[in-house]
Amino acid sequence: MIRIALVGCGTMGETHAHAYTSLEDAKVVAVCDIRSHHAEALASLLGCEAFTSYEEMNKKADYDVLDICLPTYLHCRYAIDAMKSGKHVFCEKPIALTLEDANRMVETAEENKVTFSVGHVLRFFPQYQTAADQIKAGRIGTPALLRTTRNQAFPGWSWENWYQDLEKSGGPEVDLAIHDYDWLLCNFGPVTRVYAKNLGPKHPEQMHTLAILRFASGAMAHVEASWALPKGIEFRTTFELVGTDGQLCYDSTRDCPLKTQLGSDEEVSLFYDNPLSEEMNPYRAELAAFLHAVEHKTEPVVTAAEAIAALHIALAAKESARSGKVVRL
Ligand SMILES: NC(=O)c1ccc[n+]([C@@H]2O[C@H](COP(=O)([O-])OP(=O)(O)OC[C@H]3O[C@@H](n4cnc5c(N)ncnc54)[C@H](O)[C@@H]3O)[C@@H](O)[C@H]2O)c1
Repeated sequence: MIRIALVGCGTMGETHAHAYTSLEDAKVVAVCDIRSHHAEALASLLGCEAFTSYEEMNKKADYDVLDICLPTYLHCRYAIDAMKSGKHVFCEKPIALTLEDANRMVETAEENKVTFSVGHVLRFFPQYQTAADQIKAGRIGTPALLRTTRNQAFPGWSWENWYQDLEKSGGPEVDLAIHDYDWLLCNFGPVTRVYAKNLGPKHPEQMHTLAILRFASGAMAHVEASWALPKGIEFRTTFELVGTDGQLCYDSTRDCPLKTQLGSDEEVSLFYDNPLSEEMNPYRAELAAFLHAVEHKTEPVVTAAEAIAALHIALAAKESARSGKVVRL
């Protein structure tokens, strides 16, 4: 039985907590959030102890894995601390805000011989997995043109509105488009050039990024990610993957999960549920894969080097948008 401690009981902490409830051979023994009611809510769901200080949790709880669902600017500090005390670490994406921090995390994991992975969850979405399998099988021939979108209203749910502060979230390149950068790198190989635009600081609540990636294979990708949609508009992701013999297309709004939309005078909420199978929950699948790697001492599906490679593209897109120039990698 692998014992888990979860730090950060906000949006993603709650998502992970629900995923753990259906995982066998894993037990969340402690949760921590500086907002006590958030920690207590998840502790009562999971039947474990609640803490409001990570340091206290680390001292008192006996666990093997730290699951980090903290705001991004805190990932590095807590991951390194936990690794130094011999804990395996699963960290939400993005790995960190800078390559220096990300490299320090990887070095610390290696020095302490602990397993470390990052929540690049697209790898575990059934639709993206199926597309990856089809590409590997050569179904669309040689991939040439790749287009992805990931568009939503500004994530106004966060603790102290930390997404708004680009020093803390990294903006839509580092926080949002990074999902697609990881998936594209994993399936189409290394990128050699990045050219990007974004809406920039004049639109503090309407952040949007558009990047063109050139792959070493010669393929090109057009990656769009947005926090610029008006409040209440539904989150939507798409891909079009065109090869010499065909194309693969996906649109999350045409997918078949159960969609619940609740409106009030204040706000509109939209929930997606998959009534088909718990096994298809990608967050459950990514955590199960990580725990399998811990238990069997194997390389995780998402390696830390891959998380760094995705961050590298995101930072190149930011740099290109800032300078107006192509960034060569
Ligand atoms: N994989 C995905 O699909 C996905 C989706 C959204 C967010 N994320 C990532 O997950 C991470 C968390 O994002 P979120 O949307 O859940 O944020 P959030 O603001 O909803 O939750 C963060 C929580 O951390 C708590 N917290 C802050 N400082 C703390 C500290 N020092 N000790 C303990 N608790 C502390 C806050 O009280 C809050 O409850 C981010 O890195 C984000 O990029 C991933």
